[in-house]
Amino acid sequence: MRLWKLPVFLAGMAPLAWLAWGVYREELGPNPVEYLTHATGDWALRFLLVTLAITPLKRITGWRRPMLLRRMLGLFSFFYASLHLLVWLWLDRELYWAGMLEDVLKRPYITVGMLAFSILLVLALTSNAFSMRRLGRNWQRLHRLAYGAAALGILHYLWLVKADLLQPLTYLGVFVLLMLLRMPGKRN
Ligand code: HEM
Repeated sequence: MRLWKLPVFLAGMAPLAWLAWGVYREELGPNPVEYLTHATGDWALRFLLVTLAITPLKRITGWRRPMLLRRMLGLFSFFYASLHLLVWLWLDRELYWAGMLEDVLKRPYITVGMLAFSILLVLALTSNAFSMRRLGRNWQRLHRLAYGAAALGILHYLWLVKADLLQPLTYLGVFVLLMLLRMPGKRN
């Protein structure tokens, strides 16, 4: 890894370190599993939105270098989404597969979360140079699905939230802004 990327890598690991420290010190409040589910979901979405902000940033400022960080940031989103899924599967549902399947089929916000995760999985698996070469122009088309994953992630959040809408609506506002900055004639 190039040295200038190191601070971004460390920033990506910081939430994990923070959560691990919280688990170790037993400082995650009365319901640590819920805390971990929420925190990992939030970080997955934040890293995804930051990843999507890189191209508009280049267009507005002409600064190209952050484009080289897109892959790492996108992978951090996938990483936190995987932790989010793992916490739910393992700590919340305790690997009770029948119950999980029922959740996926019967609770729309879980279905939508699964869809978002499936997209992130495909994007992570094809984020390497080999896939870029193999897929050619289709690679860019495929990776535009990152917008779909963000939209589904936000929908997932809006669907599950019971009272405080401020945070999911803030994510939605950022997402809409990023979409507007991508409008016609501004394609990557
Ligand atoms: C893999 C399938 C997924 C499952 C099973 C799942 C499940 C959950 C559950 C059970 C909660 C907490 C619900 C509650 O407390 O009432 C939650 C919250 C959340 N999830 Fe997911 N999720 C999934 C995928 C995703 C993905 C891919 C993202 C982001 C891209 C995401 C972002 C969030 C956010 C932002 C929250 C709310 C965090 C907060 O309250 O601060 N989830 N999810």
